[in-house]
Amino acid sequence: MTDTGTLRARNAAFWTQAAPGWIRHADRQDEIGRPLGAAAMDELRPRPGERILDVGCGCGGTTADIAAAVGPHGAAVGVDLAEPMVTAARERFPGERHPGLRFVTADIETIDAVPGAPFDAAFSRMALMLLADPVAGCATIRRSLRPGGRLAATVFRDGGANPWLPAATLGAAPHVGTLPPLPIGDEPGPFAFADPARVRRVLTAAGFEVIAVHPHDVTLDAPDEPETVAEWLIEMGPAGAAYRAAPPSGQAAARTAAARLLDRFREPGTGYRLPAGHWRISAMTAP
Ligand SMILES: C[S@@+](CC[C@H](N)C(=O)[O-])C[C@H]1O[C@@H](n2cnc3c(N)ncnc32)[C@H](O)[C@@H]1O
Repeated sequence: MTDTGTLRARNAAFWTQAAPGWIRHADRQDEIGRPLGAAAMDELRPRPGERILDVGCGCGGTTADIAAAVGPHGAAVGVDLAEPMVTAARERFPGERHPGLRFVTADIETIDAVPGAPFDAAFSRMALMLLADPVAGCATIRRSLRPGGRLAATVFRDGGANPWLPAATLGAAPHVGTLPPLPIGDEPGPFAFADPARVRRVLTAAGFEVIAVHPHDVTLDAPDEPETVAEWLIEMGPAGAAYRAAPPSGQAAARTAAARLLDRFREPGTGYRLPAGHWRISAMTAP
């Protein structure tokens, strides 16, 4: 069992190395990845004037959506561990065009509360299962909310519900350098919250109440561009840093092999349909 300090350092290193890929594909991620957060956004129902936190905001697309919903008298604060992604978020969504929108660099696990607290609600798309110490991270979210504040989030279910997710990494791996360690058991990773009982345990230990965890299935529609889709999915995953460091011949071989494994999700002439199964999570802080 790896200790929390080691997992936290591994997490920070991973996201620093992953950032260039997420920044490069930020617009694509916002567009194609929208269904991954839509159920939580519906659950959140941001209202004009509210103050809302976006945890693990990446390059800021969902935070900007929330800022548009809460309007000029509300606030949307995105927090993320990876400084380069926060910088990219600020550049993509400059404050003067988005009143009330702010981005903060912080490890949600190691701060007492997110600057700008208390918030009326917190949102998170596909980030909570990546925390090294999810109870500590969720406790910070809880402390950052007002009494009776709400949490709405999504996390992936298991690999069976998301069969496309490992495909690009598996295809690329033989053609690029060393990959970061793969998660074991409960270690942070895309499927670390596959067990809904664990999700409930984590949120209960963090002090949340009225916890609900529901399955939700969506399809991500990507264009019929095998090289582009393969590169996007390689760069967003654990092979991204090794792919960027590989020579052009290795990169080309990685894209070809990834595209071959993704082919079963492709309808030539139409595009890719990637089945994504996630949990829609909601919870409240005590009144
Ligand atoms: C899978 S990405 C999702 C990004 C964004 N929510 C989206 O859906 O496009 C997970 C994000 O969580 C962030 N993250 C991971 N651990 C974190 C932590 N301990 N504190 C804050 N952010 C963290 C990463 O830097 C990364 O941007």
